[in-house]
Amino acid sequence: MEPNTQKLIHSFGALADLGQEVADTGDFMEMVRTSLHLLLGTLAIRRGAIIECPTHHLPEDKSTNLLAVWGVGEDYQPKFDVEDADRDLFLKAPDGALLVSALVQSPKSKVQSQNGTGSGSDRVEDVATTAPASSLIFFDRYASQLQQQGFDLIIPMVVRGELTGLVLLGGKASGDPFTADDLEVIKSMVRHIGVGIHTHRLLGEVKQQVVENRRLYEDLRAIYRDTVRAFAAAIDIKDKYTQGHSERVGKYSEIIARELGFGEEEIEGMAIAGYLHDVGKLVVERDIINAPYRIDAKQSSELNRHPAAGYEILSPIHHPYADIPLMAKYHHERMDGRGYPDGLTDEQIPLGAKIVTLADSFDAMTTDRPYKTRRTFDEVILDLRRNTGSQFDPIVVIAFCRALMKELTGETKKRRFAKMLGKNYLDATKDIPLLTQLLAELDPNTQTAAVGSGS
Ligand SMILES: [Fe+2]
Repeated sequence: MEPNTQKLIHSFGALADLGQEVADTGDFMEMVRTSLHLLLGTLAIRRGAIIECPTHHLPEDKSTNLLAVWGVGEDYQPKFDVEDADRDLFLKAPDGALLVSALVQSPKSKVQSQNGTGSGSDRVEDVATTAPASSLIFFDRYASQLQQQGFDLIIPMVVRGELTGLVLLGGKASGDPFTADDLEVIKSMVRHIGVGIHTHRLLGEVKQQVVENRRLYEDLRAIYRDTVRAFAAAIDIKDKYTQGHSERVGKYSEIIARELGFGEEEIEGMAIAGYLHDVGKLVVERDIINAPYRIDAKQSSELNRHPAAGYEILSPIHHPYADIPLMAKYHHERMDGRGYPDGLTDEQIPLGAKIVTLADSFDAMTTDRPYKTRRTFDEVILDLRRNTGSQFDPIVVIAFCRALMKELTGETKKRRFAKMLGKNYLDATKDIPLLTQLLAELDPNTQTAAVGSGS
């Protein structure tokens, strides 16, 4: 085999290794170091450095960043300022190599252009390209220093028209000059390394963008939540007898969703659904909402418009959570089909709407209304027993009772129910057996767990 063919095979092998290295998304700095060693090893070059150039997105940052260096004294850390004119110089020679010695000797006059690939015996002086003398700021400043450190070649890494970095190379260990073939190998390998660095940089930018997007998204959600709370307050202000009703229904819905094992997003969605369930009341006459007596049939049908009206109000809004408009629409539906507005039955009613239904009813039962005082806890239990399966979904009632049980038994330290129901409403000694009994009736499997955690 001819020496040139052998060399070519060797070079291709090195290129393949480099490709593998660059494609490996593991340790970036390790990838760069290994790439440099492969490049130096392929042509037995004494020293080299891989330098990252600042992106032009950040014009105030001109300093390069040393990624890997080999073969120079430990105290030499190549670092440069790359001006716009320098960047142009490097970009105009994307396939070229800039010869340091030529630029040191005659920086204003040594301007050559690449003249083909040449034969294996061509000297690098014949193939290296340089840029117009007028834009050699970089070399005026650094060429002597580079030469002193034994660097002969600068190969710009240009990826997608962007100057990604520079590769500095010293001479070959043999002392032979670089041939045109050597230069082709070098340029191919440098292109690979450039792509690796560029990709890494893009990934970094993408990650940053993700963080920024997340922040914006969180801000938007916060604005959305605040708006929802404002809406809830507006609804509750309109109904002077049920102050804080929407807020409490939101909280009860959240508690039930958590007990049912919903994810954080869904739990938040349920709280929002609770806050907004009565938004349709905004279009119902204030006198009907605030009637200090039981309203008549006509008024009742006017009031019963509110779930559908709520749906109309909420539908055009893009909600970041589950189907909030449907939960508002169906919070007066019943399992047995006797609810409104659509008379849906069990499986036709979304679980979220069923949760809001119970939260809404529980709050209605446990707060004073103009025409009736609130029910005692015993009465509430009786109502739940009577209406579970016809009005309420047993799954939802069980979750609600379990959550309340956890608070009464001290299993959870948060006093969320107590805060909403007032100090003396709940009585653990009396209420735990009631809840235990109801839970046992609704779901015999929970009996032991419920009783076992007694206070
Ligand atoms: Fe309602």
